[in-house]
Amino acid sequence: MSANGLVPPHGGTLVDRFVTGADAQVLQAEAASMPQIELSAKQACDLEMIAIGAFSPLTGFVGRADFESICKNMRLADGTVFPIPITLAVDDAVKDTLTEGGRAALRHADGTLMAVIDVAEIYTHDRTLEYEGVFRTSDEAHPGVQAVMDEGDWLIGGDIHVLTVLPEHEPGEQFPDHRLRPAQTRAEFERRGWKTVAAFQTRNPIHRAHEYLCKCAQEICDGLLIHPLVGETKPGDIPADVRMQCYETIIDHYFVSERTCLTVMPAAMRYAGPREAVLHALVRQNYGTSHFIVGRDHAGVGDYYGTYDAQEIFDTMSDDDLAVIPLKFEHAAWSHKAQGMVSAKTFPKLEGDQVFLSGTKVRELLAEGQRPPAEFSRPEVADVLIEWATAAEPATA
Ligand code: ADX
Repeated sequence: MSANGLVPPHGGTLVDRFVTGADAQVLQAEAASMPQIELSAKQACDLEMIAIGAFSPLTGFVGRADFESICKNMRLADGTVFPIPITLAVDDAVKDTLTEGGRAALRHADGTLMAVIDVAEIYTHDRTLEYEGVFRTSDEAHPGVQAVMDEGDWLIGGDIHVLTVLPEHEPGEQFPDHRLRPAQTRAEFERRGWKTVAAFQTRNPIHRAHEYLCKCAQEICDGLLIHPLVGETKPGDIPADVRMQCYETIIDHYFVSERTCLTVMPAAMRYAGPREAVLHALVRQNYGTSHFIVGRDHAGVGDYYGTYDAQEIFDTMSDDDLAVIPLKFEHAAWSHKAQGMVSAKTFPKLEGDQVFLSGTKVRELLAEGQRPPAEFSRPEVADVLIEWATAAEPATA
C-alpha cells in the first residue's frame, strides 16, 4: 500500500515526463534544429501513456534489451513484469537523420511539437520476436500484427521529455473532463475515501454482461472505475465518443454515482489478448485501482486466443510481480429461467435458456433502428447506439 492506502504504482514510482515553465521554452527552441519524427496515431497514444505515468515504470520508448526481454519473458531486462514492448518505430529515411546519443523532436501528424526523445539506441525491429512473444501469431489478418507490420524497420529507444500530449488540432473528441491522469484518479479515489477500487477496461458499448461484471466487483470493492480505452482502435470498432455517451447514460440510469467513476484511458488497442490483459491490469494499478476485471476473451480478436487465456496468464506471475488483483469472470449472459445474469459457475446450462447475440447481429438490429433485447442491452444504451447507427453517415461501418 502507498501512503494514502492505495495500491502502489507498478515499479514503485509514478512516472511524470512533462517539462514545464522555462525548461519547456528552452526545449521548444532547441527542438527546431533537431531531426524530426512524425508520430503515428498509435505512437502518439503511447507517448501520452508514458508521459502521464500510465506505463510506469517506463520513462521512454524501450531499448533493445527491454524489447527482447519483454517479447521473450514478459519482463523488462531488470525483471519487472511488462508484457508488451512500447516502441518507437521509424523507417530508413528517418533513421538516416538520427544519431545515437543525439536527440529528436516528436511531432503529431498535424505538426504540433509534442516531445523530445533522447536517442539512446537505434536497433533493428525484430518483428518475428514481437509476433511470437506478444501476439502468439504472425497472421497479418490480426489487427495488432498488421499494425506492427506497417511500422518502420528500426526502433528508437530512449527517454522522452514531453511538452504536450493534446495537440490543438487533434481531430475528434479528447474528453477533457474525463481525461484524468493516474495522479488525478488516485487523488479522486482518495477524495472519495476509496481504498479498494475495481477497474473495468472496455472498448465496446456497455451491455448487460459488462454491467453484471461491474456490479459484482462493486459488491466487493469500495468503488468502481469504468475506464474505457479511447486511443487508436481498429476500423469497425465503435467510436469512442458514442461509447462515452453509452457509459454516461447507463451510469445515469443504472449505477450509484457515489460508487462509480468514469474516466478515459488514452491507450491504443493491440488486440493481444493475454499479454494485453496484463498490460491493462498494470496500467490500472498505476491509475490506483486495487482490482482489475478480466472476463471472457479479454482484449481478444477473432479466435486467436482461448476464451480464458487472458485469465490464466495471471497464474504465471507471483504477488510480488503485480500488486493489482485480477477479478476473473466466466462468460456471463441473461438466463430466462433464472431471470437474471448468470455464468457457468452460478447456474446450470439449459438448452436455449441464455441470451447470446453476436456483434454482427447486434449491429444489424441497430442499423435497422431496432433495440436488441433488454436482456442483452439496456434500452437507454440501445437508443444511443441506434441514433449513431442510423445517422446519415456513421463514423465507421
Ligand atoms: S476488451 O477488448 O476491452 O476486452 P470488451 O469491451 O468487449 O473488450 O470487454 C470488456 C471486458 O468485459 C473484458 O474484460 C471482457 O473479457 C469482458 N466481457 C465482455 N463480454 C463478456 C461476457 N459476456 N461475459 C464475461 N465477460 C465479458
